[in-house]
Amino acid sequence: MSDTIIIRAKDVQKTYNTGKVIVQALRGLDLEVKQGEMVAIMGPSGCGKTTLLNSLSGLDAIDEGIIEIDGRNLAKMSDKERTAYRAANMGFVFQFYNLLPVLTAAENVEMPLLLDYKSRIKPKEARKMAHEALAAVGLADQVDQRPTELSGGQQQRVTIARALVNKPAIVWADEPTGDLDSTTSQEIMDLMRRLNRENGQTFVIVTHSQEIGDQCDRIVWMKDGVVVSDTQTQSAAAPVNGHSNGHTNGNGHNGNGHSKEVITNEALIPELQTMSAN
Ligand SMILES: Nc1ncnc2c1ncn2[C@@H]1O[C@H](COP(=O)(O)OP(=O)(O)O)[C@@H](O)[C@H]1O
Ligand SMILES: [Mg+2]
Repeated sequence: MSDTIIIRAKDVQKTYNTGKVIVQALRGLDLEVKQGEMVAIMGPSGCGKTTLLNSLSGLDAIDEGIIEIDGRNLAKMSDKERTAYRAANMGFVFQFYNLLPVLTAAENVEMPLLLDYKSRIKPKEARKMAHEALAAVGLADQVDQRPTELSGGQQQRVTIARALVNKPAIVWADEPTGDLDSTTSQEIMDLMRRLNRENGQTFVIVTHSQEIGDQCDRIVWMKDGVVVSDTQTQSAAAPVNGHSNGHTNGNGHNGNGHSKEVITNEALIPELQTMSAN
């Protein structure tokens, strides 16, 4: 992990006004995350975790305060710039896998690459990158299978491969293991931790699981729209190789042991475009 602050949120306020009720979801929230850090966001249901993730990633506009990602204020960008910035720099992993059922695993993973008009990646190259990303998450043999032919854990691996195929600087994960049994949750956590260490990518993970939280570098607890505690975990002390293209270390949480590189490129993630258009 480096000392560079990649996520900076200062006095963030966000209110939902449904017409009937006004909900103050974020009430002056401050947060800083270092590059390469793996942070868990925890707290009771309704305390504003998802709102925070959506605000930090620029999917939702905030009412007051400042959010800077790598020194850039996303609120000052046009919608188009923000979408492009997000596509190039952020990956998303949600609880429900958001995979397109008619597409194979490889097709789901390569889609962001093919939709990125800037990168000019040829279909053949995109397929190769998708295969490599799927191999990196342990799904080399499942590339041609459709989501319904995969288990929940495998489907979540596909989402992770898709979120990481362009090696974004930041990965946002909203309850990524919320729908999985504990063994599979642990596998998914191992995978994210390994990718964090190998690639030096920053992870912000919303979770209800103390076990998952303990394996992050840091746990940020929220309540009623603010941060109420912020602590380093034991895991933060473990050796970290924050280098891009670095080697995995042996902390004992290495899913399948073989490390494979995830690929670089800019991407557009389609449902994010849809979401940001709303
Ligand atoms: N789109 C929305 N419209 C109105 N209220 C919302 C909306 N999204 C979230 N809220 C409210 O904002 C608060 C925070 O929600 P959320 O960020 O989803 O919390 P968490 O992810 O911690 O469960 C809750 O009271 C929730 O009901
Ligand atoms: Mg939530």
